[in-house]
Amino acid sequence: MIRKKSYGHPFDTEAVVGPCEVLDGPLPFLTEEGGGRFSCPLDEDAVVYGLGENVRGINKRGWIYESLCSDNPNHREDTRALYGAHNFLVVDGAQRFGVFVDYPGKVTFGVGYTDSGLLTIQTEEPDLNLYLIDGDSPEDIVRQFRVLVGRSYIPPKWAFGYGQSRWSYMTADEVREVAARYREAGIPLDAIYLDIDYMDGYKDFTVNREAFPDLSGLAAELKEQGIRLVPIIDAGVKIEPGYPVYEEGVRQGCFCKEADGSDFVAAVWPGRVHFPDVLNEEARRWFGGHYQALLDQGIEGFWNDMNEPSIFYSEKRLESTFAQLDGYRAKNLDLHTYGALQGLVAGLKNNPEDYKCFYHRHKDGLVRHDRVHNLYGYNMTRAAGEAIEALEPEKRILLFSRSSYIGMHRYGGIWTGDNLSWWSHILLNLQMMPSLNMCGFLYTGADLGGFGADTTEDLLLRWLALGIFTPLMRNHSAMGTRRQEVYRFPHVEAFRQIISLRYVLLPYLYSEYMKAALGNGMYFRPLAFAYPEDAFARQVEDQLMVGESVMIAPVYQQNARGRYVYLPERMKLVRFGGSHAAGQNVLETVREELLEPGHHYIEVALDEVVFFLRPGHLVPVSRGGCCVEDVDFTHLKLLGYPEGGCSYELYDDDGFSRDYDDPAHITRICVDGDGMIHTEGTAGKEVQWL
Ligand code: GLC
Repeated sequence: MIRKKSYGHPFDTEAVVGPCEVLDGPLPFLTEEGGGRFSCPLDEDAVVYGLGENVRGINKRGWIYESLCSDNPNHREDTRALYGAHNFLVVDGAQRFGVFVDYPGKVTFGVGYTDSGLLTIQTEEPDLNLYLIDGDSPEDIVRQFRVLVGRSYIPPKWAFGYGQSRWSYMTADEVREVAARYREAGIPLDAIYLDIDYMDGYKDFTVNREAFPDLSGLAAELKEQGIRLVPIIDAGVKIEPGYPVYEEGVRQGCFCKEADGSDFVAAVWPGRVHFPDVLNEEARRWFGGHYQALLDQGIEGFWNDMNEPSIFYSEKRLESTFAQLDGYRAKNLDLHTYGALQGLVAGLKNNPEDYKCFYHRHKDGLVRHDRVHNLYGYNMTRAAGEAIEALEPEKRILLFSRSSYIGMHRYGGIWTGDNLSWWSHILLNLQMMPSLNMCGFLYTGADLGGFGADTTEDLLLRWLALGIFTPLMRNHSAMGTRRQEVYRFPHVEAFRQIISLRYVLLPYLYSEYMKAALGNGMYFRPLAFAYPEDAFARQVEDQLMVGESVMIAPVYQQNARGRYVYLPERMKLVRFGGSHAAGQNVLETVREELLEPGHHYIEVALDEVVFFLRPGHLVPVSRGGCCVEDVDFTHLKLLGYPEGGCSYELYDDDGFSRDYDDPAHITRICVDGDGMIHTEGTAGKEVQWL
């Protein structure tokens, strides 16, 4: 059951689209302390799940988190806020409930931080909608919540392929070279990402015609090879007379305003910019309409960036900073003055005071940005999503964003922002995935190999071995770091095996994604959700369930030749790759072993991937391919651990259309007690044991 209670004058975030009961009386589960503060005791064994994109574990206990969309490329264990704001959590203890704090400004969650036995929630202002959900299990609570906030975004099938990105491929020829090197090495690839340098002077919806003289020709040429181009779009629109997007935006009043009605000036990549007022419906329609310029050139996917929005400096703060810096010129700078001087420059970026200086023209009136800060990336992506759906009603387009709020999950996916080539960020990637799924973000993944800092071959191999299971599988790195296209490393064959395995597993991974999206379920689950009676499973922080049949336990420590894995039940270990397998189709490298429940040390070489199959479960696989379109989804092989009879519901469709709910997309694969396979459904799938 879902109950809602409103406080003060809540802002309509449009996160919620489903029904609920309105509560008049006192709150169950939480104590209302007034002023936007709520609390509840946490018993010793209680586990707290959720909060989406955040640092730390699957169990969020023991830290303080802020929902305050922040551009923080150097985040660490003690960071409080990342790029998204996902105010949903589930307490699973003596009390079991879910809570969604629908409030668009800053929210602080103390999850056993000041007092290990206390959960506290504090909104910046006391105007909010609170939703409380009770249910039979954390998974049941999550499902109810997901119905409340609506169906998750579904990308085209090709977007489940592997993508190569880099800030930046500077010319069309450099892009061609990436494609050619992948194809020469026989490594599958479905997308190459264009970062900010494809644009003319970092101006949204423009193309640098010297470096990319014929973008539509390039898009068509690569599509012939099964590779899509995915350009970046930034939130800030460059201030430049003669640039049509800027001039139109000013003329039509579509930018965020200062208190005096002038357009707010901030700076990002191109220097001075205005921010489209995406909280205003007309401005949203106007900005979204511009994606057509790229769709018309054969582009089928976009990533929306810098939409916290990130601010390098505001025009006004820069002026006052220069004036203050001048005052230090002749001084002997000691500990304090030197620190103050440094702070002045560092304080230019994403300064909280700047977020108080501009306004949105929302349907319910003028609203100061800081009060609705967490809705900006959401509405930029909504602008794109709504426009794209109107422009391309018959076709799915790839769309994902850096910043987000719950509600945005209906319009696009997210990537988890700038991370680092650190081993600890592999684990962080794993731990974020189920938390994001709880909040509706199913199409998600991290920058594989790490964005900032220099990668190493072993780190990239291990990270990809996790990445083959994340719906968004993209290798991305920052300008100035060591290049991390996989063909640049000595063990190209190891990369080929691992990335090819993604394509082998696609029938299962796509089917599990679609069932999670259509049924408001989770694609990645903590072990505790699958084994609620198992006390140890509740503590496992480095293994995940992927769909209904598979458990993964990636290696995330340098120089480790394997790791301990906890098996909650008897399972079948499935191993792919390995040096004996060089040159073979990865499908033929499979090795299987039955393991008893409990703890096992499992060796995993750098060129191998292992996962674990649950008894009575099946995994349909393909022979792979060099891109998603090349994969044969009709003649399938079956991996499984059948115990008696068992069955699997396979979802498959053409990967482009939006007729998701057509029952013809379902095939039931049944295995009888003798191991004979038969299929039920109209899709004509042929399935044989591997
Ligand atoms: C931001 C993005 C990153 C991108 C860079 C340049 O840092 O998060 O992915 O490469 O900007 O556009």
